Amino acid sequence: MSQLLRLGVNIDHVATIRQARGTNYPSVLEAARLAAAAGADGITVHLREDRRHIQDADVVALCEWQQLPINLEMALTDEMLTIACERKPAHCCLVPEKRAELTTEGGLNVSGNQLRVTEACDVLRAAGIRTSLFVDPDLSQLDCILATGTPAIEIHTGAYADAADANAREQELNRIQLMATAAHQAGLEVHGGHGLHLENVAAIAAIPEIVELNIGHSLIADAIFVGLSEAVTAMHQRMRQARS
Ligand code: PXP
Repeated sequence: MSQLLRLGVNIDHVATIRQARGTNYPSVLEAARLAAAAGADGITVHLREDRRHIQDADVVALCEWQQLPINLEMALTDEMLTIACERKPAHCCLVPEKRAELTTEGGLNVSGNQLRVTEACDVLRAAGIRTSLFVDPDLSQLDCILATGTPAIEIHTGAYADAADANAREQELNRIQLMATAAHQAGLEVHGGHGLHLENVAAIAAIPEIVELNIGHSLIADAIFVGLSEAVTAMHQRMRQARS
């Protein structure tokens, strides 16, 4: 199996700092450039319906930039589908979105929204955009996920990252491993993300079926102290060590 493990750098929280003061800095595009120079394999942004961090203009600028593939995380709404089809990021990750949440709290309920998710995958595929579905490590959803025609999933690693103790963490890791194996065997490309940081990334990075991790909050937090380049480099190294 391939040793390749890509790092998608989520730069939402560069925009969070900018939006906190209504300034035009720090620049999201500059963050993307620095992340690219430090070896990021892709840039991820979440255009939330409430526009709390990333703005429409950021998506336009990043999609025009064309230095790295852009992965647009978005809710399954007509507005977001229109924006994606117009801007044509390389990838769209469909996520559930609740306005009051601090961050994306759970995976998509694919079985409960199968028709809608399938239609969205069709629309995005027709626009030349590769989809992934952000899902919990729940094997019971796999058949419905496959039926949508998505080529990829991103497994929600939040429950693993937030586990209260070592036992719970081990259980969550096991669920992720099982989901990754089953999805890979079924022909899906498997990504992971949420709540990952330098101390907990190794166990996820060691799962051979996972080919991409999308990481944001901890990278931007580390960047406050060491700079974005060093934070991205350190994360990449930790991911690679886990594979070797
Ligand atoms: N993947 C998805 C689908 C997300 O919604 C997020 C958070 O925006 C991430 C990955 C990154 O999570 P974190 O910011 O905790 O690294």
